[in-house]
Amino acid sequence: MSLIYLDNAATAFPKPEETYAFMDQFYRSHGVNPGRSGYDLCMETGQLVDETRKELTRFFNGTSPDRLIFAYNSTDALNLALFGMLASGDHAITTAVEHNAVLRPLEHLARFGGVEVDIVPFDAAGFVDPDELARRFKPTTKVVAVNHASNVIGTVQPVAEIGRRCRERGIRLVVDASQTAGKIPIDVRAMHIDVLAFTGHKSLMGPTGIGGLCIQDDVVIRHTRAGGTGVRSAQRTHLDEYPWRLEYGTPNVMGIAGLHAGLSWILKTGLGAIEAHEMRLLRRLADGLRGIPGVTLYCQESLADHIAVLIFNVDGVEAGSAGTMLDVDHDIACRTGLHCAPRVHEQLGIDKIHGAVRLGIGPFNTDAHIETAIGAVGEIAAARARVPTA
Ligand SMILES: Cc1ncc(COP(=O)(O)O)c(C=O)c1O
Repeated sequence: MSLIYLDNAATAFPKPEETYAFMDQFYRSHGVNPGRSGYDLCMETGQLVDETRKELTRFFNGTSPDRLIFAYNSTDALNLALFGMLASGDHAITTAVEHNAVLRPLEHLARFGGVEVDIVPFDAAGFVDPDELARRFKPTTKVVAVNHASNVIGTVQPVAEIGRRCRERGIRLVVDASQTAGKIPIDVRAMHIDVLAFTGHKSLMGPTGIGGLCIQDDVVIRHTRAGGTGVRSAQRTHLDEYPWRLEYGTPNVMGIAGLHAGLSWILKTGLGAIEAHEMRLLRRLADGLRGIPGVTLYCQESLADHIAVLIFNVDGVEAGSAGTMLDVDHDIACRTGLHCAPRVHEQLGIDKIHGAVRLGIGPFNTDAHIETAIGAVGEIAAARARVPTA
């Protein structure tokens, strides 16, 4: 048996061959520290960094490549944004669909930084109501931080609608696009997004260790770190100009190279084609699982405004045990538990049963993978049904 990888919501695997090949080739030929010196190799390496800023800015329809900053991943990027935008006395609004990459920085700001945080629930289908969110606006509201798509239930939030309401009130919108960048189109200007956080290793098809922010021109983010940038070294404090303002130390050149190659692969393949393929498989998976007695899906009634990820439970089987059976008996990789988004499970009432099993579909999954997964879950449910109850 060869592994059937259905944990693409955690990280995309495998990556396109182009990502591996370009990283290997570029790091061998250009593995020097960019932006520090004037020799040709250094300049060429810097050019790839700048080119990738431009490509990502175009991809998200951002305003300026200087405002595309690289960080380790979206968690790092969201920390830079939230700690740099909020201060004591401010009010922030977020939602119950968030990942801990948003919830925990906000919780820290609330506990230790004097920031007031409101958390808006989602509806029965898994969506946040923009009007309900807007009803929480106060004169002190500075930031709304929302997930573009949930890494648990896959619902794509009405970000443009939320953004319009924020724009009317001069409130900054920070969007966590960890699950959507490279999966579905994002236009930061049309969607009124002030700060977009992305991670390279999921649908952008790059490696781990690279992510960043796409920031609109008029947004100010304070520096919360300081260090070398290779530019104006005599200055005593960290640079104020973007992108250096939010970049610290030697950049992840190999990560940026992989991100560049991953993005080229997405543009060549077509976002629409990737989404159509994944959503076709998701529909097949959801239909198959729905037909199995004893299997419960969550927030999957309609698959409109969803990405290709779902969670389920099998009656009487702990999610962790179901995951082990999928792994050991069927060689299927999935994720179980709370998926770093505990409030989703709390609101669905499944936190006390340790969450659910998650299957995340990627561009390299096939119909055969989905059929095998449906068959495997069917076997687990049937075996459980045969166990006599006390
Ligand atoms: C919605 C969401 N936000 C944030 C993250 C954090 O991404 P990273 O671990 O790359 O920082 C993830 C990753 O699982 C995610 O799914």
